[in-house]
Amino acid sequence: MRIYSVCMLCSLIISSTASDTGVQPIVALVGDDVILPCTLRDTVSAVYQSVEWQRPDLKPKEVHLYRDEKDDLVLQNPVFRGRTSLFKEELENGNTSLKLTRVKLSDVGNYTCYIPLLNHQKTIIQLLVGESTHLLTTQTPLRDRSHEIRGAVSRPVIIIEGMEGDEVVLRCEAEGCYPEPVMEWCDAQGRVLPAAGPTETSRDREGCYTVTSHVIVPKSDNNTFTCRVQQLEIKHMKERQVHVPDQMFPKTCWLTVLVTVLVAVLVEAVAGGLYLLMKKWILTFRKEARTSLMKNKETTKNEEDEASVLSLSSV
Ligand SMILES: *[C@@H]1O[C@H](CO)[C@@H](O)[C@H](O)[C@H]1NC(C)=O
Ligand SMILES: *[C@@H]1O[C@H](CO)[C@@H](O)[C@H](O)[C@H]1NC(C)=O
Ligand SMILES: *[C@@H]1O[C@H](CO)[C@@H](O)[C@H](O)[C@H]1NC(C)=O
Repeated sequence: MRIYSVCMLCSLIISSTASDTGVQPIVALVGDDVILPCTLRDTVSAVYQSVEWQRPDLKPKEVHLYRDEKDDLVLQNPVFRGRTSLFKEELENGNTSLKLTRVKLSDVGNYTCYIPLLNHQKTIIQLLVGESTHLLTTQTPLRDRSHEIRGAVSRPVIIIEGMEGDEVVLRCEAEGCYPEPVMEWCDAQGRVLPAAGPTETSRDREGCYTVTSHVIVPKSDNNTFTCRVQQLEIKHMKERQVHVPDQMFPKTCWLTVLVTVLVAVLVEAVAGGLYLLMKKWILTFRKEARTSLMKNKETTKNEEDEASVLSLSSV
């Protein structure tokens, strides 16, 4: 679990698109001042150039114009009034970066830095704003804010990935989001399940995170599992549930049960059969013994009779 950072966190992700791949995004807090980077290619002085910073999606599109060695803000869009400046002392180094102060949510957009006299050099800077959370406090409840806050995870996806032994492997993935989400698994009772390894994290060029986590679950009476994604800084929480049908769990366990039962029945049958056989043998043996005994007795009796007869006759 992450420690709550006492709010006010908000994100600005700045990255160059198109021409400048591999530029690390810049992250800042709302209300902060931010620098949109732009540098002349050949490290020549920009003092005598004209530098046009624009936001093509706005009307008027002018963000900041510098020409004839001074700022010309007549055409500037009023939303930027008093919030833009160039670093005058840096111009001679070819540094035409724009400083934008007190950043607002409405500043989201693509900014172009255009130097007409230098082969029409144009740099596009994308400014992403993670939205202000400065009204959020530590008491603000966690809930689904994917419709209010840009960068809040909107759709974690659960995939039943396969089997491991007689357990099922689940994967949860949440993509394109900022700040970095924390992902965890819960069972039907809301108990946190240990994940199969640490959460995998990657970032795209715009600084958006994609997180992936695996869990290995055994069969239970209610195979309902939840993937929970939280972005504590923006008080966002999104859950996704999956019900794994019983049939998904490998048949091997059924086979095992079947084989076990069969073996048990067989053993019992053999044992029972042997017992009956033994009993029969014993009975037969006893009977035979008894018959032969009785035969013996009869013989003795006959002999006695004969003897008595003999004795009588002799008398
Ligand atoms: C341009 O100047 C600003 C202000 O001094 C600085 O922060 C920034 O790093 C410079 N950019 C480059 C590419 O040197
Ligand atoms: C900025 O440019 C990027 C990449 O070309 C594009 O995906 C995005 O929609 C643009 N943003 C705005 C606000 O026009
Ligand atoms: C699983 O249990 C949860 C809560 O105990 C319940 O809301 C859900 O409907 C159950 N699902 C199934 C498929 O039994």
